[in-house]
Amino acid sequence: MSAADSSPSVLLGVAGGIAAYKSVELLRRLTETGHSVRVLPTASACEFVGVATFEALSGQPVHTGVFADVPSVPHVRLGQQADLVVVAPATADLLARAAHGRADDLLTASLLTARCPVLFAPAMHTEMWEHPATRDNVALLRARGAVVMEPASGRLTGRDTGPGRLPDPAEIADLARLLLERPDALPHDLHGRRVVVSAGGTREALDPVRYLGNRSSGRQGYALARVAAQRGAAVTLVSAHTAELGDPAAVDVVRVGSARELREAMVAAVADADAVVMAAAVADFRPVVRADDKIKKGSGAPAPRALAVNPDILAELVRSRRAGQVVVGFAAETGDATGDVLHHGRAKLARKGCDLLVVNAVGDGQAFEVADNAGWLLGADGSETELMTGSKALLASRVWDAVVARL
Ligand code: C5P
Repeated sequence: MSAADSSPSVLLGVAGGIAAYKSVELLRRLTETGHSVRVLPTASACEFVGVATFEALSGQPVHTGVFADVPSVPHVRLGQQADLVVVAPATADLLARAAHGRADDLLTASLLTARCPVLFAPAMHTEMWEHPATRDNVALLRARGAVVMEPASGRLTGRDTGPGRLPDPAEIADLARLLLERPDALPHDLHGRRVVVSAGGTREALDPVRYLGNRSSGRQGYALARVAAQRGAAVTLVSAHTAELGDPAAVDVVRVGSARELREAMVAAVADADAVVMAAAVADFRPVVRADDKIKKGSGAPAPRALAVNPDILAELVRSRRAGQVVVGFAAETGDATGDVLHHGRAKLARKGCDLLVVNAVGDGQAFEVADNAGWLLGADGSETELMTGSKALLASRVWDAVVARL
């Protein structure tokens, strides 16, 4: 924690790549969510973004070298006092210097004195990211416990595209918060695994403009996909109506609309998956007929619409799963006269037959459309773990721990 108050003390390292301009948005997000941020740019980063920008937005002085403010010994003190170091963008050169323990500027010196979690968000051209030298440096940093994010894919500086884009600043901020909540939340333990996650809420069309839907924002499913990708898994995210959420870095996103489309996408994706998580809110019913034209108001009461039952995708995935595949379901529950949330959760786990069930209490502003989540993780083996209130990424990290233990 910073000396002056109890806000977490974050060092934001910025290396010299064109993506340095995005570090300004990350800085903004980190300060707005209550972090005390000290920016450590490299000399090259200052070719891209002015020191005044970092100083104004962080409210703290900004130096690149180790010879400014010598009496306070910043090259040792800053790292020692930090709760988290985030380096975004981390260039190939910065990763090389960090991997080899160089201390030739304030940022790399601070990386050597920091004992807190360190998060690198790489950004470079695909050739540099894929070069054996960079691969070795990344492996070395990960082996020592640093979190090196998988970069996003897409348009790079010029006309070229491929892996190497800086992950979205919102995503970096999300993982930064996760590491402050739980420093060991992102081990690279899903490397070589394939996982499939569903997210969002299906919509069942009544006519060209109306649908039966639900309030799921998709954020929990996106957090599950993001955390799995950063723990090394190859991830397919089947996403239903999550328009305002950006694609997580290094995740293959398949967009669907209705429950039946979601079912089709899941069945196609899970064939060779090691784990499947059904976080989507699937509509249980759909109109038997979708009107071709907009249903008119007419006079008096509306004509009743017949509903058909949608397939239970989770139950089907459990029935047809391949040997060793771990299947996780979600249950949004409210307590009632017949039992509490946990009671209904246990019954649902037995009914669905999945390996793990995350049970959330819903209603009264809980779970839906909010950043935080809490609940219980129930295992078919009888285990029960309380998931304390925290970010959706924190809940995701607990789910993946349980999945890894069963793989
Ligand atoms: O039965 P209930 O809808 O509460 O079950 C929730 C779980 O089942 C979630 O994991 C959800 O994704 C899944 N589900 C499904 N197909 C449905 C309804 C729910 O896969 N038609």
